[in-house]
Amino acid sequence: MTLKVHHIGYLVKKTEAAILSFQALGYRVTRETVYDDIRKVNICFLEKDNYRIELVSPASEDSVVSGLLKKYKNCPYHICYETSSFDEDYQTLLANGFLSIDTPTPAPALRDRNVVFLTSASMGMIELLDVSQDSR
Ligand code: NI
Repeated sequence: MTLKVHHIGYLVKKTEAAILSFQALGYRVTRETVYDDIRKVNICFLEKDNYRIELVSPASEDSVVSGLLKKYKNCPYHICYETSSFDEDYQTLLANGFLSIDTPTPAPALRDRNVVFLTSASMGMIELLDVSQDSR
């Protein structure tokens, strides 16, 4: 596999308030807030020291993260890995015990590239980002 860390996903209740806290630590906003109408969440990216952080907050009660936020509060909850051999790596992860939470679906906040979420019983959730079309 050729996985590369793309971002750390943070669950936050309120995007604007979270941005202020991250800015106090020296992060800068690299992509303004985008509404993901498939997952019903608001997404914003920040960076510091070459670490990319994704803030994910629910835009409505039935968002994909509303349940998670109630359970875990504000916290990091996934690491996203980019890969240029998405289909192959996705299958390899499934063969290695990871379970697919959803199916590969375009992510508006990531220029509509496909992402899929997987979970490992011993490790929790990861996200796989398809960058195979990027250089074409
Ligand atoms: Ni993510």
